[in-house]
Amino acid sequence: MRPVSHGVSFYIDPGVVSQWLKGSGSAFASRDLIDIDPDQLENRVNNQVTLNEARNNSGFDARKCSLVNSEHSYLGARRKQINDAKSKLGLPWNRNIVSDEQVDFFEDDFAKGNCASVSKVYYRGGSTGVFKPSCNTRVVSMAANAFGINGDGFEAKLANRSVLFSDLDQLLQIGVTPRTVYALHGGKVGCSQAFVQGKPVVEEQYRSVKKGLEAFRDGNVLLDIFNGDEMYKGYRLKIDPRANDFSQGGPTPMQLHMMFDEGLLTVEKECFIGPAVEIDFSAPDIQKRMADVHVLDFLAGSVDRNPTNILYKKVEISGEVIWQPWLIDNEYSFASHPEKSELLGRSDLTCYATLRVPRQIDADTAQRFMLTDRESVLALARHHGLDEPATQALLQRHEMLRDQIERALTGKPSDVALVKDWQLHTFHKTLMDRESPLTRAFNNVLAANLGGGE
Ligand SMILES: Nc1ncnc2c1ncn2[C@@H]1O[C@H](COP(=O)(O)OP(=O)(O)O)[C@@H](O)[C@H]1O
Ligand SMILES: [Mg+2]
Repeated sequence: MRPVSHGVSFYIDPGVVSQWLKGSGSAFASRDLIDIDPDQLENRVNNQVTLNEARNNSGFDARKCSLVNSEHSYLGARRKQINDAKSKLGLPWNRNIVSDEQVDFFEDDFAKGNCASVSKVYYRGGSTGVFKPSCNTRVVSMAANAFGINGDGFEAKLANRSVLFSDLDQLLQIGVTPRTVYALHGGKVGCSQAFVQGKPVVEEQYRSVKKGLEAFRDGNVLLDIFNGDEMYKGYRLKIDPRANDFSQGGPTPMQLHMMFDEGLLTVEKECFIGPAVEIDFSAPDIQKRMADVHVLDFLAGSVDRNPTNILYKKVEISGEVIWQPWLIDNEYSFASHPEKSELLGRSDLTCYATLRVPRQIDADTAQRFMLTDRESVLALARHHGLDEPATQALLQRHEMLRDQIERALTGKPSDVALVKDWQLHTFHKTLMDRESPLTRAFNNVLAANLGGGE
């Protein structure tokens, strides 16, 4: 599945791409944000081509000349593709896109069984990314809709949200998000995230619902599930291939009821099994890292941090086992201010959202957080074309966190405690914070241990 090589490599140095994609949480310099402009690089190559053309023309080397010309039109087509992608994403001129040019080989639909069709892409610089296209997708999650993320993948700016999330992590030097960049793959526009060799704490499984099936005959429940509107409850339909093909227009509620009665349609419910990885969440290092995850998810207004969207990677540092949490699937973030009435009492919509300031923050992380001013956050949001309500909400959360940390640093009453040493008592305190990612992971494991049956 190697793509055709055109023998011209002019976009960006693969070394640069690999550095971007490594996402190591290394020190972040603001210059990293100023991307290389692919147009400039292209111009450089074009000038060279023109020069060669002139030379060849004068030397009447027709064979060489036609080779150069075909390269020239190829460059033109590539530039158009890159520009089209940028306008779809609403990106400024100086934002770079990793193109197919950088791809060595790839594996499409690599995470089979999961929702999105993602590709594992091996780049020439030696790094591996997970590409997610923004086309052919609609935001049907009611939770995301309630927080102002609507429309198709481009309207909802899904790739922009993912890349902004990763850049925000870099800006704060937190280091829990695999580096994410805008990307083109197989003619599709989207983003590519550094591949993480890790597992979620529990694994997702779908089991057919056997009890209380009558409830699914009510009104439009089946249609809602078909359309994904009941997705937040974890339901999906499994339709027998012998049933009609609905690719040319959805089924009516009546058709779904008939299929249900004929046994051609099964309702399945998501459950979690595990633990998939054995982590002692009371260890100081994972407490600190999960607290960092909480800070970033709060600031970024993330609304879908379900257990499958944190991958844990086991690393050994001087003989000690460390579990690193890595945040994937960051599209549903940068929530706008929700309509309060819409969300009151809707734990089904908010169960994976991070809406409140963390109760405990690592002292070093807090220090670094205070170095990030409002202007840098605003500039970053604008750079990625985040809409105005979402930008304002982001700035408010930034202000809220700064305020609480400032109070804690100056000994005033604060909602936040700054932690220098993560110990057993900080672990117990974290477990009382229901929104904390550590509590959620811990509870997911407990629930999965009960068997996850109906
Ligand atoms: N950066 C990554 N590293 C490793 N695996 C990934 C990464 N991003 C996604 N995946 C795999 O692809 C699956 C689907 O990707 P995800 O972004 O979570 O899409 P969905 O919206 O379907 O949940 C994940 O559950 C995971 O198995
Ligand atoms: Mg996911």
